[in-house]
This record gives sequence, structure tokens and C-alpha cells, in this order.
Amino acid sequence: MDRKTIVNDPEYGNKAEAFEAFDDIPTNPNLSNTIGDVINRRYGRRDMLRGALGVTAATALFGTSALISPKQAAAQTAANSRYNFDELTWGNDINHHIADGYNADVLLRWGDPITADAPEFDPQNQTVEAQLKQFGYNNDYVGYTALDENRGILCVNHEYTNEEVMFPGLGRQDRAGFEGMTKEIVDIEMAAHGGTVVEIQKGSDGKWSVNRNSWYNRRISPFDTEMTFSGPAAGHDRMKTNADPTGLAVIGTINNCAGGMTPWGTYLMAEENFHGYFWTDVVDADGDPDVSAQPEAVSMRRYGVPGRWYAWGQYYDRFNIDKEPNEPNRFGWIVEVDPRDPTATPIKHTALGRFRHEGAETTVSSDGRLVIYSGDDNRFDYQYKWVSRNVVNEETAVFGSSLLSDGTLYVARFNEDGTIDWLPLRHGEGPLTAENGFKDQGDVMIDTRLAADLLGATPMDRPEDAQPRGDGTAYIMLTNNTRRQADQVNAANPRAESAFGHIIEIKEEGGNHAATRGTWDILVKCGDPTVAEVGAEWNPETSESGWFGSPDNCAIDADGRLWISTDQGSNWGRTGKSDGLYALETEGDLRGHSKLFFRCPVGGELCGPYFTDDAETLFLAVQHPGTDGTKDFEGFERDSTFEDPATRWPDFQDGMPPRPSVVVVTKQGGGKIAV
Ligand code: FEO
Ligand code: CA
Repeated sequence: MDRKTIVNDPEYGNKAEAFEAFDDIPTNPNLSNTIGDVINRRYGRRDMLRGALGVTAATALFGTSALISPKQAAAQTAANSRYNFDELTWGNDINHHIADGYNADVLLRWGDPITADAPEFDPQNQTVEAQLKQFGYNNDYVGYTALDENRGILCVNHEYTNEEVMFPGLGRQDRAGFEGMTKEIVDIEMAAHGGTVVEIQKGSDGKWSVNRNSWYNRRISPFDTEMTFSGPAAGHDRMKTNADPTGLAVIGTINNCAGGMTPWGTYLMAEENFHGYFWTDVVDADGDPDVSAQPEAVSMRRYGVPGRWYAWGQYYDRFNIDKEPNEPNRFGWIVEVDPRDPTATPIKHTALGRFRHEGAETTVSSDGRLVIYSGDDNRFDYQYKWVSRNVVNEETAVFGSSLLSDGTLYVARFNEDGTIDWLPLRHGEGPLTAENGFKDQGDVMIDTRLAADLLGATPMDRPEDAQPRGDGTAYIMLTNNTRRQADQVNAANPRAESAFGHIIEIKEEGGNHAATRGTWDILVKCGDPTVAEVGAEWNPETSESGWFGSPDNCAIDADGRLWISTDQGSNWGRTGKSDGLYALETEGDLRGHSKLFFRCPVGGELCGPYFTDDAETLFLAVQHPGTDGTKDFEGFERDSTFEDPATRWPDFQDGMPPRPSVVVVTKQGGGKIAV
């Protein structure tokens, strides 16, 4: 399908989905099965080898069990569940919902003042000056670093903007040829992207609030936040532009999806769909971007640059590849921010590779090194892992640490026999040579995807968040991939046209996250277990409220338990369920059992989640409330607009649009969550 068809397809009720679909170019060459793969599958070598490797067989999972009511399920599983709460009943309406016995309070909304001198939010009269001092749009990653017992710094990503519900009278601008996108509105959009760093405190009543007067508070944006680079691509010729002949200075960060906190409390922002912000006036007969004359054409095609999702390139040369062909090379990285020093210049760490980084979840390996798991969220793209050369200690645990520039980036090959190999992306090794277009390690990092293609990595069903646990286990969210054909399935991505995704559990060899080998297993195959064609696999005790589709973000709490948040997009029409937060068992007889804990208002996707170390506070981010596929919402058969949104969550005031917000979950009366 061409761009115009997809952009105008009512199936794509959220702009981001439309562009992800448009961007689904099967540029990845590692898709066909080898005959060895087929033989292995046919003769079950995978199971034999897993036995030989000493991996315990997973608890049997059943695809088509009869569903029991949430009440029955609660009674049956209460005795064994590691998550002590009564399951919420599934649904979808204009408000959010939390399990009984918990509070879910809105802490920060789009437009809330972040600094002492910030103006109050006025959606009818937005300005770039105001937005630069107010909480940004579409909160995604949430991280927290404690200052003392009841006070800390919250770090929040603002992934993208939805102009149709942000500004009066606009509607979807990608459908309207960007006619309404004045420079004034573009500037506000830019200011609403990026991140927020803000001090929060817990009162004696157990409620959290924002301290507007804190020295730590700052907004980070692609409008005006100066950043620098570290690692092998810093200062590289392909990183130089007219505005920056050094290749060392860049303004801002974009499409910051998930992220991570380092063990020393700095904030990692993942740059995901960066390609969408770049513009060209060179188009083919269908109106699609034509990069054939670009010096970076091969790279641009593999990364989907330019996406032309936003009109920024009409006003800023740096977002127009006709004028600045190297600028896209300066995005798609992991950015480190020091939340404890608002004067510190954020750093893009190029050693961690350039791709559509979903997140950057960190851990310390059993041999003391920093390990970061990061997925490349695109259909048929890869799962990566960074391992530092040196160990985390007092000297290295600092902002701008060499632990983020000196080490090895690996890409995953999920073998059919249930093992995983982590393949190093090192210049000069294997095919990563000048003959294949990689002059140096800088090239390998700028073109991480092309390098991983040559290494034979496994093309996955959109790797979203990946969460390591200290014991050498990691969980990988594969959200969906409806474009995978039957002849493109592999053991780690076993369903063709997968609309609901699955979750992979990795056990690194020796319980060491720095290992280059391990085993993997599928924890659950998502979707409705009562519909045989879906091919879902859950623990049979899972209730009709407990199963979910499209796992996206995840967290592990202080007790090592896994929590999953979902982003179904317009796929919610296939489940009828809102997005939400689920508690997913990984151990014992209930392995693969899921329970619903929180659900979003209509159209919202759930991001975060993040637990404080004491496990008494859980931060959630409700992104783009009122947008996704709201045409299917009861009594509401059109896309949301500023004037007529599907919900006015969380304010529910006339004239106030829906506002992406961070929600704080606490137990009524205090205590650890779900314990
Ligand atoms: Fe921004 Fe892949 O979610
Ligand atoms: Ca995500």
C-alpha cells in the first residue's frame, strides 16, 4: 500500500499507527527459513536440545480452555497467586479503573506547570514559551530516582504529539497535507516532545505531589535542548552538518518512547521512530519520498527515512534531508540525562547503536558489568543487548560513564533449538568490513540495522520493551506483526499474521546477563484463548479479564514479579478491551497466568510502568487518551478531535481536551503493592 492509502485508512485511528504501517517495508533480508530450520522443527530437535541443556519444561499451556468468570478464577488462584489483589473486570469506557483497595491518582497532566514561573495550561491559547515550561505530551517512559525516603526526581518521556486532539480546528494533519501546520504550531509540537525532569514528594497522607519550585525541574525538547555525542560515531563524517561541522553537537531528541534508569540514577531516553520527523520535497508519482539521489540512500531505505509524519522540515532545515542529509544519522540513539544536574548537557551514546530504540532497561551482570537490553521496534527487526567492558563501581557509576561507550553491542539470534546467541557488532569481525560498506566502528553503529542483517540476526515480531531481572532472566515483549507470512515464521516468532503478540523469556547462561549465549522460551502467546484461530496460549486458570493482546512495556517489582502494559492500537476493536496493566506469573504451576490490575480510559495506551524501590508506589503513564480506534467506541463513530474527543479524561471539563497523564498507584492505607 502507498502512503496516501494508509494515512487515510480509518483502520489506523492513531497517526503513529498509520506511519508504522506505512513504514512496514520488508527491508530486512533475514526472513526466509533454511532447510535446517524446517528439519529441526519437524523432528522436534528444539525440545530435545532444551532437555539436554537442563532447561525445565515449561508448565503446560492450553490454547482453548473454557473460560471461567473472574470471581471463580480469583477463588481458584488466590491460594497460589504471587499477586495479592482481586482482579479487575475488563471493559472500556471514558475513565480509568484500578483493582479494589488501591488508589490511582493523576499526578501530572499534559500542560501542567513544571517550573515556578510557568503559566497555567490554556489549551485555547498555547504558546511555545508556555509549553517549554509545562509537562509535555504523550508521556511514555517513567523513571524515578530517590532523593530521600519521601522525595525524588521523576523522569518522563514525551514520545509524540496528536495535533487533532491538541489544537482547536486542526484534525489529522497527515491526512490534510499539513495545511494547518503553521510555524507557531510546529514550535509548540516540538516543545511538547522530549522529556520532563521534575521533583515530586510524598505527603504525610501518602499522596504524591509535584514541587514546582525545585532546582532539578527541567524540560528537555527537540526545540532547544543542546546535546552531545559519545562513542564511535561521535565526530564521524556522517554525523556532520552545516550547522555542526564537528559532528559533536545536536539540538534535541525525538520520539522518546521507553527508556531506563542506570544503576547510578541517570535517565536514559530511547529515540524510537525518529525517521518520521524528516522531510523531503523529492517525491515519486505516488507522492512517496524518493531518496534514490541521496548519498545516504541505502541507509535511509533501511531506516525508513524520511517518514514525513510531521511538517517540521518545512520550517527547520535540520529536519529536511534535501538540505541536511546527515541529520537523520544524529537520531535513533540512546540519550543519557543527569536528573541531578539541570545544567548537564545530555549525551547521545552512539556505542549503543542506532535503530528505533524502544527502551533501554539496565541491569548489573553477575560479574559486575552494565548490561542494557533494547529492542528495535519495527516489524522484522531485532533484539539487542549492550555489555560494558568494565564493571560498575564508584568510579564508573557516574553520568557520562565510559560504561556506556566502552563495551560491545550484541544482536540476538534465537535458534530453533531453544538457544540464543548474542552476536557482536564489532568492526573488522565477520562481514563487518570495508568491503561490505563499514569503514569503521562508527559506520557499524550508524548502520546498526545493516550490520545486524549481515550477522544473521532473527527478525522479530516488533520487539518492544525488554526487562532484565537480576537472576540472568530477561523478558522480551513482541507486540504483534500482522505482516509475517506463513513461510516467514520461526520458532521464536511462531505465528503468521500475529495480531496479538507474545512474550519471550531468556535465561542467560550461568545466570549472567553478560553471557553471549543462553536459552529462550515463549512465556505466553497473547490474544483470546477461546478463539482457536488466534492460537493463544495462557495458563488455563487465566480468566476472561486476565488475557491480553499486544504486550508493550513491562516492569519487574521488588519481589521479582513481572507486570505488563499493553498497546493494542486499533486492534482493541478485536479484543473489545481497553489497554491496561496485567500481573503475569512466571514461576510455578501458575506460570503464564495473567490478572488485570489497571485499565486505561478509551483510546489510551498504557506506558511506564515503574515501581519505586520500596514497592509502595507504582507510576503509570496513560498515553494519547481518546485517540486509538475510537471510531469503534460505543456511541462514538468517528475519530477524536479537539472539539469532540471520545473522552475528556482526566478533567472531564467542557472545552478541555483529553490530556495524557502520569498516574500514581498506591495501596489504600499504605504498604507494598499486591503483596
Ligand atoms: Fe513507542 Fe514501540 O512504542
Ligand atoms: Ca512502547
